[in-house]
Amino acid sequence: MSTRNPVVLKIGGSVITDKDGELSPKTDVISRIVEEIFNSEIGNLILIHGGGSFGHPPARQYAIKEGLKEDGQKIGFAETHHFMTVLNGLFMDALIWHHVPSISVTPSSCILTENGRIKRFDDQLLVMLMKMDMLPVLYGDAVLDTKLGFTILSGDQLAAHLALRFNAERLLIGVDVDGLYDADPKTEKNAKLLAHLTLKELKQLRDSMHEPASGDVTGGMLGKVNELIPVVEKGIPIQFFNASNPSYVFKVLRGEKVSDTLVEKE
Ligand SMILES: Nc1ncnc2c1ncn2[C@@H]1O[C@H](COP(=O)(O)OP(=O)(O)OP(=O)(O)O)[C@@H](O)[C@H]1O
Ligand SMILES: [Mg+2]
Repeated sequence: MSTRNPVVLKIGGSVITDKDGELSPKTDVISRIVEEIFNSEIGNLILIHGGGSFGHPPARQYAIKEGLKEDGQKIGFAETHHFMTVLNGLFMDALIWHHVPSISVTPSSCILTENGRIKRFDDQLLVMLMKMDMLPVLYGDAVLDTKLGFTILSGDQLAAHLALRFNAERLLIGVDVDGLYDADPKTEKNAKLLAHLTLKELKQLRDSMHEPASGDVTGGMLGKVNELIPVVEKGIPIQFFNASNPSYVFKVLRGEKVSDTLVEKE
């Protein structure tokens, strides 16, 4: 059993799916990332993945994040959760194929939110898995909510929650761009990669960011940064890196240098 505090790794839906499509997995990328996790020989890891083109389109179509307002949304809630289990199944297939002892922990079966925030999380099972050196795998999901009926729990909120709950050694955020930029690198071709940010600088950057107009229902990079600020406040370093780049997941897990963004409190 490992005695080190866990490393929390979130692999964005932007990496493992084509977010411009619907139900468009990148199975070759999933397989490569899993191989890199296996080869890194890292113990004590918690893995979370996002929704990409599986979770976001039905969540947006049926306004699941806003909660239950009419019966017609119920099938959308069911569909969003189901599509996430399908994407998660692809990840689990690859993990088992690569002989990684990993178990999927379904968020909607052990987490209850209140107004969109995690209120109850029965994580005893997760603790047991970690004690047994097995890899828990969680994901952004459609969950039940005490006030809203149901809502969307982002993989980002989950990653922040778990990093804080288990006092993670570091939180690794894999996306499809090299890190945090001074503007969205997909729309601003002169955007500059920010190699290092303090908490104060991260908050300043947050204030200049915008919600995505379409696609991501949990606020895109702005939502992510908002979720992650409390993690930095607690003194846990966060690395934003490009998980679409071959070997980056391996290198980051091994603590090797890549072109990325490191956020630290001071
Ligand atoms: N200042 C910024 N720096 C870096 N990326 C940014 C910035 N502003 C916007 N982005 C966009 O944020 C995107 C990543 O966030 P997004 O929520 O879309 O992906 P994700 O979280 O990986 O996916 P999912 O929510 O499905 O897990 C990048 O593809 C990039 O275009
Ligand atoms: Mg997102």
